[in-house]
Formats: sequence, C-alpha cells, structure tokens
Amino acid sequence: MKNIVLIGFMGAGKSTLLNALIEYGSLDSRKAYDLDAEIELRCKKNIGEIIEEEGLLFFRQKETEVFQDLLRQSDLIIACGGGIVESVENVKLLQQSICIFLEAPVEVLFQRVIDSKTNRPLAKKRNEDEYNFLEFKRLYESRLSLYRKNADLIYDTHKMGIKFLINEILKLT
Ligand code: S3P
Repeated sequence: MKNIVLIGFMGAGKSTLLNALIEYGSLDSRKAYDLDAEIELRCKKNIGEIIEEEGLLFFRQKETEVFQDLLRQSDLIIACGGGIVESVENVKLLQQSICIFLEAPVEVLFQRVIDSKTNRPLAKKRNEDEYNFLEFKRLYESRLSLYRKNADLIYDTHKMGIKFLINEILKLT
C-alpha cells in the first residue's frame, strides 16, 4: 500500500487527525508516525528547543533525514510538520505518497496555534516570545501553493468534522 502523508500549515489538524485515527483503532495494518514526535524522540528534545537551541537549518536537516528514513517503509500514515514542503527532497517523497492537504482559513489556524500548548517558534517574529499574526500569515502565504500543488486530496478542517475526515482516510486504507 502507498504511504499516506498529511500535510498543511501549523494548526491544520494533522496530528489531531492522526491521533484520532490511532485512538479509534481503525488503521488496520498501517503504521502511524507523527514526524515531529519522531524527531523529538531521536533528538531527545522538543521541537521548540531543537529550533531555538540548534537552529532552523539543523531542524530542517533532521526533518528531511527522519522523513526519508521513515519512508523506506510502506503502509504508513505520517503527519508531517508544516514546513515539510520547504525542501525539494521532501517534495519528491511526497509525490510518491498519497498526499492529503488539510487546510483552514489562516485566522483559524492562528487561533488554534495560540490555543495549543505546543511551542511553535516559526509563528513568532525572530527573538520575540509572542505569536505574531503577520509573520504567521506571511509564512502561510509563501507555502500555500506548495501544499496545493503537491496534494492528491484537500480537506477543509474548519468545515469538516473529525469523524468525516477519519472516514475519508479509511476509504484509502
Ligand atoms: C513548522 C511546523 C511545526 C514544526 C516546526 C516547524 C513549520 O509543526 O514542525 O515548529 O515550519 O511550519 P506543525 O505544523 O505540526 O505545527
């Protein structure tokens, strides 16, 4: 079976959907991975610490390395971090998988990021602690066409409920 990858901007609901699929026990033989969680495991630090202490370039290299490593297997479903489309190597790997883009209006994404407990350094201005909507929107707009271009399927997670999304994924497994 082809691998399934969930892509989309911060706050799109990639990890939430993956965890719901795991919780409902409905993945059959598919193995589920959250790419950021896998990076954290291997680096023994959380993503915020990796980016703030080791730098964004180091994080991006790790992200590509772990993504490539996971995709040596088949029958996977992987929730990726929002920046997965930033590397040409990653995009090539996305194209070999069933790529699902989870989208939502940028205002909704920003509010979800504010409400979540995860530290997302890329939603802030450099050297600032507060999340910054303009910075967030600028990054979102710079990536939107990449998400769309590489998607086999697109779902709006603001309009569609989690149960609907789970059923859509199950149709592919
Ligand atoms: C990032 C998104 C984050 C995480 C890291 C970088 C990005 O994942 O990988 O903070 O570049 O958009 P989520 O999309 O799960 O927030």
